Amino acid sequence: MNKMSSDSVNKTKQAVDLMSAEELRDPALTAAKLLAQERAYFYEKFDPPFYIFSRYEDVNNALLDAETYIEGYGNGPNFQPPRGILSDAPHHTFTRGLIQRDFLVKKINDLRPRLEAIVQELLDAVADKTVWDLHDELSFPLPVIIICEILGIPTDDIQRFKRWADASVANMCASDPLEYAHELAEMNAYLLAQIHHKRKLGRTDDLLSVMALAKQDGEHLSDEELVAFAVQIFVAGNETTTSLISNLVWRLLTIDGLWDCFCGGEIDVEDAINESLRFDPPLLGLFKTTSRAVELDGVQIPAHTKVMMHYGAANRDPEAFPEPNTFKLKRSGKKMLSFSVGLHVCIGKELAKLEASVTLNALRQRYPGLRLVDEGERVGPFLFWGRSKLPVTHT
Ligand code: HEM
Repeated sequence: MNKMSSDSVNKTKQAVDLMSAEELRDPALTAAKLLAQERAYFYEKFDPPFYIFSRYEDVNNALLDAETYIEGYGNGPNFQPPRGILSDAPHHTFTRGLIQRDFLVKKINDLRPRLEAIVQELLDAVADKTVWDLHDELSFPLPVIIICEILGIPTDDIQRFKRWADASVANMCASDPLEYAHELAEMNAYLLAQIHHKRKLGRTDDLLSVMALAKQDGEHLSDEELVAFAVQIFVAGNETTTSLISNLVWRLLTIDGLWDCFCGGEIDVEDAINESLRFDPPLLGLFKTTSRAVELDGVQIPAHTKVMMHYGAANRDPEAFPEPNTFKLKRSGKKMLSFSVGLHVCIGKELAKLEASVTLNALRQRYPGLRLVDEGERVGPFLFWGRSKLPVTHT
């Protein structure tokens, strides 16, 4: 995703193909195409077809209008029943309220020493390697370990979580719901056993216990509901944070001189994280469903239609961000939309930023000689943007 590719899209309208090899390789190309198209772009290449909003103002306004653009049919392109936190008021208010406390800035800051310890352990483990994979050995395990600890589930078999996490994100974009049924059933059974165990213990010292013991109108949440809710937290907090860390390191190592400036202390880690989120959003977009017919710039969108909020395009809208295709460390003005806004704004954003900040600071202290071995590989599903492999060396 570089300046050349997106600027080279000429101003004539070109059809968007989210699943094409070139757009998967370079989401800036999709962004440029979308920003040259009508504001509500009809995407026919998926079943069911959907609309895409790409301008900053349109995405922002839609996200703030939770009565028209609802969550209750899931945030992928397929229609799902409302479950857990992927729901609307009043159920969403209740579920979000249950976990909100654990993600407050103060609580998250208390996790800093633990995060630092995990990162140091992960970096110790690669100290003597000539080549290691930044995804597999650092940016993937860190969020999984911390989310498991927050939920109160064992971290004994991290590869099993990797399989489940991969299946969950792939399932979000799959046209055949049966494709990942086996892995998802395994994950659900595991979480259900954990939930039953928590209920038996009757304590409230971790997040899964709080959820397992919570009552709505005098009743515990159903097993199905609880499992869906736990999966949502697990999935929302892992792949995304992993991609934030790998994307940022990848970008710093790719753009001439940036890693050296970063290691020399000339770049503020918060600025780097914010620009990475704008430039390389781990989620390129998510879906809402219209609760009523709407009209945008002359395009009529019927009720009960999926609309993709394209964060990747909105973050590169020149009306909101001057020189949008340049990775610029000091930006003022509009905020990037990669964590969404409104009632469903990411609950884990402070945690994700803290994980990235601790990791990047440790990396620059311990391995200033870090270099890419090659570009690695892109994560599979089209909604996501990150590296599933990122071979590096520090010797
Ligand atoms: C860089 C990392 C992350 C990114 C880019 C990200 C992105 C997002 C986005 C775009 C949404 C809005 C969904 C919508 O409007 O439907 C969201 C919601 C959510 N995120 Fe994150 N997220 C990240 C990390 C995390 C972490 C670490 C957690 C921790 C558990 C988390 C938990 C959640 C939850 C529970 C929701 C649902 C909130 C609701 O619907 O009320 N996320 N995230």
